[in-house]
Amino acid sequence: IQITFIDHSGKETRLSVPEGTSIMQAAVQNGVEGVIGECGGSAMCATCHCHIEADFAPKLPPMGDMEEAMLECATAPVDDRSRLGCQIELTSDLDGITVYLPESQV
Ligand code: FES
Repeated sequence: IQITFIDHSGKETRLSVPEGTSIMQAAVQNGVEGVIGECGGSAMCATCHCHIEADFAPKLPPMGDMEEAMLECATAPVDDRSRLGCQIELTSDLDGITVYLPESQV
């Protein structure tokens, strides 16, 4: 699955990761700065907050209650495109997705 991260300074990182990897894992395993993933992917820390390209919004899994609650604790401003990266598993539907990373997670 192809995924592109764009950080707050505009730096792009293009990766190819196995299907089933979460957005948070893709970033953390490949050293992409801007995602911390402190809780290891349990929707408990909000340090994997990211903004998903609007075109992909209809293809994303719906937001869980935990995710919604945690997003309120995210440091960076939350908007319509905000999701927790650990709650989104990359499937072939999401191939080519672009994910924007906030300036700070803490
Ligand atoms: Fe902690 Fe996603 S890694 S909420």
